[in-house]
Amino acid sequence: MSINQDNYQLPIRREVEQLKPSATLVINERSKALIAEGRAIYKLGFGQSPFPVPKVVVEALRQNAGEKDYLPVRGLKRTREAIAARYSKLYQIGCEAGDVMLGPGSKELIFLFQMAFDGTLLLPSPCWVSYEPQAELVGKKPVFVATKAENNWCLQAEELEQACAQAGDAPKYLILNYPNNPTGSTFSISELQGLAAVCRRHQVIVIADEIYGELTYGRAHHSLATYYPEGTIISTGLSKWAGAGGWRFGAFIFPKEMRQMLDVMAAIASETFSAVSAPVQYAAITAYEPSDSVRDYLSAAKSILEAVGSYVYERLTKINVRLNPPQGGFYLFPDFGYYREALARKGITSSEALCRDLLEEAGIAMLPGSEFARPAGELNARLCYVDFDGALLLKKVLEEGEQPDAVFVERFCPKIRGAMDAFVGYLL
Ligand SMILES: Cc1ncc(COP(=O)(O)O)c(C=O)c1O
Repeated sequence: MSINQDNYQLPIRREVEQLKPSATLVINERSKALIAEGRAIYKLGFGQSPFPVPKVVVEALRQNAGEKDYLPVRGLKRTREAIAARYSKLYQIGCEAGDVMLGPGSKELIFLFQMAFDGTLLLPSPCWVSYEPQAELVGKKPVFVATKAENNWCLQAEELEQACAQAGDAPKYLILNYPNNPTGSTFSISELQGLAAVCRRHQVIVIADEIYGELTYGRAHHSLATYYPEGTIISTGLSKWAGAGGWRFGAFIFPKEMRQMLDVMAAIASETFSAVSAPVQYAAITAYEPSDSVRDYLSAAKSILEAVGSYVYERLTKINVRLNPPQGGFYLFPDFGYYREALARKGITSSEALCRDLLEEAGIAMLPGSEFARPAGELNARLCYVDFDGALLLKKVLEEGEQPDAVFVERFCPKIRGAMDAFVGYLL
């Protein structure tokens, strides 16, 4: 029987109907179309780890491919133990397997939290693209708290204090992401301590989105959980530091005080995704348990990312593009305000128009700042510096003893170098 489409109604829920394809996808589609036309495109738009998953972790996945049973909703105990042991030690938080919940990516866990928690969402701006649409899906409107470039785009205690006072008495939760997507910045210990005091005073529950925590450059990552253990949920996973975005493995570490929230989220999980893929959970044990090979992999990956990020920072700073030095992860948030008048003469007065023109004219794909909750008229964009062959670069460092620096970047990251030359050509 054929279906007459005209007779069908599709009553789509209002919250869902409003969702639009993300600018990431739009830029990707346009980039692909240009590539198909034979254009060289510098892919500084889409952020995923350029590195392969560590070999020992891939091997563990292979060994466990036969694991086919549904695992416990919260996750395999051994995996949760390995995660708890690692972060207990790193952040002195005394957590255990019972405080950990696994999910198919940290994104899903953040969504479940937003669904379960009845309160006001505070979001520093700029922030990652998915927090706001997730909130909207569950009928919430976030309150944005603007941060400043001169503070490295890091939320300051007094800014949070003011936002909490304005938000009133309703329960509040804050999603704090560091190292940050899109800015590449992270907090100092004193900034974390200042935020902890404000959160404690206003009983703000914090999701500390530390998905890039293991990719902090030049020093250990510090977690808000160390200074505000009773109110911080750490959000983490394998996607960024282990290059395993497609494996879909994320984790939440809850304070003991929030066991009820963990139980509620586990109940929702049991009615939705059931459990994370079994082979991936087994492989994750190898990723989290201490080993020389994973440690060496991570230190090489960080040194490469730091060298590439610093190279991009130096080259763009030289041509009066304003940006903060990279501190972790793989993003920078350049501002092209210095060129405002020249760009306006070409009719470019928004970050979106700037990114469209940069793609068409210079072959550089980036995402406009407006996608990250910045005002449309600011001329900023997210630059993701992973357009290089991560497997080759790891080999150079781990097996051939190369030291990542600017010369290394110029030799082995031709697309990054090309992109910087393209910026010069476009702007000067
Ligand atoms: C800031 C931030 N948080 C969370 C995620 C989600 O990561 P996953 O769901 O792969 O754990 C991402 C991925 O892009 C991200 O950039």
